[in-house]
Amino acid sequence: MADKRALITGITGQDGSYLAEHLLNLGYEVWGLVRRTSLDPMMRIDGLVHPRRRIHIVYGNLRDGASLRSALEQSQPHEIYNLAAQSDVGISFKCPDETMEVNYLGVGRLLHEAMHVNPQVRIYHASTSEMFGKTPPPQNEHSPFAPVSPYGEAKLLAYEHFVKPYRDKHGLFICSGILFNHESPRRGEHFVTRKISISLAKLKLGLQDDFSLGNLRAVRDWGFAGDYVKAMHLMLQHEKPDDYVIATGTSHSVRDFVEAAARVLEIDMRWSGAGSEEVGLDLNGKVIVRIDREFYRPVEVDSLRGDADKARRQLGWSPEVSFAGLVDMMVKNDFERLARRS
Ligand code: NAP
Ligand code: GDD
Repeated sequence: MADKRALITGITGQDGSYLAEHLLNLGYEVWGLVRRTSLDPMMRIDGLVHPRRRIHIVYGNLRDGASLRSALEQSQPHEIYNLAAQSDVGISFKCPDETMEVNYLGVGRLLHEAMHVNPQVRIYHASTSEMFGKTPPPQNEHSPFAPVSPYGEAKLLAYEHFVKPYRDKHGLFICSGILFNHESPRRGEHFVTRKISISLAKLKLGLQDDFSLGNLRAVRDWGFAGDYVKAMHLMLQHEKPDDYVIATGTSHSVRDFVEAAARVLEIDMRWSGAGSEEVGLDLNGKVIVRIDREFYRPVEVDSLRGDADKARRQLGWSPEVSFAGLVDMMVKNDFERLARRS
């Protein structure tokens, strides 16, 4: 029997899968909270996590407090990693109610039940760099929050109304990880990095002619998810609960990501035109990237670059995978996967 039990909400997502693997490697007994969908959750988890490893599944939903109470009573965790969320910023403009329900009120439900079942439990809460919104980079733990999306707003409300009061007033051990964008070959296919890696791999294999993007000028601090889940675990081993920025400290534009991904596949490309008329062309002048207003946000976070000095000093955390290494990993993975199928 393992000494430590962890409950992960959002275990079927990108971060949940890497975190589950990391905790299993450290000897934890891992429980995953999954919601009912038309797909068998074990199939979703097997696709992401090493299938021979055993994960205990417990059904629940952040929208349903009773299900959270029962999941906590069943799993009796020493550590809870709350990763479940409606995590798509673009979709949050289209589904603000769902986003608020899960990303804000759902956090309140979970903390309320956790406090009741075991006030000694240690909790990691997934905050986000999206909470900085329009605050110019570099952003650290002292930078003002200024969210511009329902997603960022919901995460900030969860932090201000639940995470901080439960920690400061009720003494719950809860850490807020302000993680900047992190990606991987397991990244959801609608996020921009994965969309680019899949689309260019298909283009190279002759499976697709072109693809469309939104704002090429947006700048993000992109790291590797496998590095970032280690920081989540380190936060809960620290002597006191706190807030930590987790980032690489380097940033690139969406345009840079497209160019770097094209280089990995040896696709020579250039840009032509401006604004929504801009296109990416291959050497023969064929259009391979278009701009589609559909992929623009009503309000955009222009530039994110995190300063993770506190995590480096207090947790001994630093990222291992560089921007070039991340692009290479994602593009090659999609190319090889699609080549095997075609
Ligand atoms: P993800 O791949 O979209 O995974 C989200 C997870 O949440 C999925 O397992 C999903 O389950 C689950 N979920 C959604 N609604 C739920 C509900 N009502 N009840 C229970 N589970 C629910 O996200 P991720 O990239 O791994 O991110 C993990 C967390 O970190 C999220 O909270 C996200 O907001 C935050 N974050 C991510 C980044 C990043 O760059 N990746 C940066 C900062 C913060 P289904 O499989 O059933 O959909
Ligand atoms: N998704 C998407 N699709 N984004 C595009 C596209 C496109 O076709 N074209 C340009 N972009 C721009 C978006 O406008 C945004 O500025 C940037 O690419 C990154 O978009 P996403 O990959 O969707 O990520 P995000 O930054 O909005 O949100 C992610 O990072 C947050 C941390 O800052 C998510 O993982 C959030 O859950 C996370 O909190």
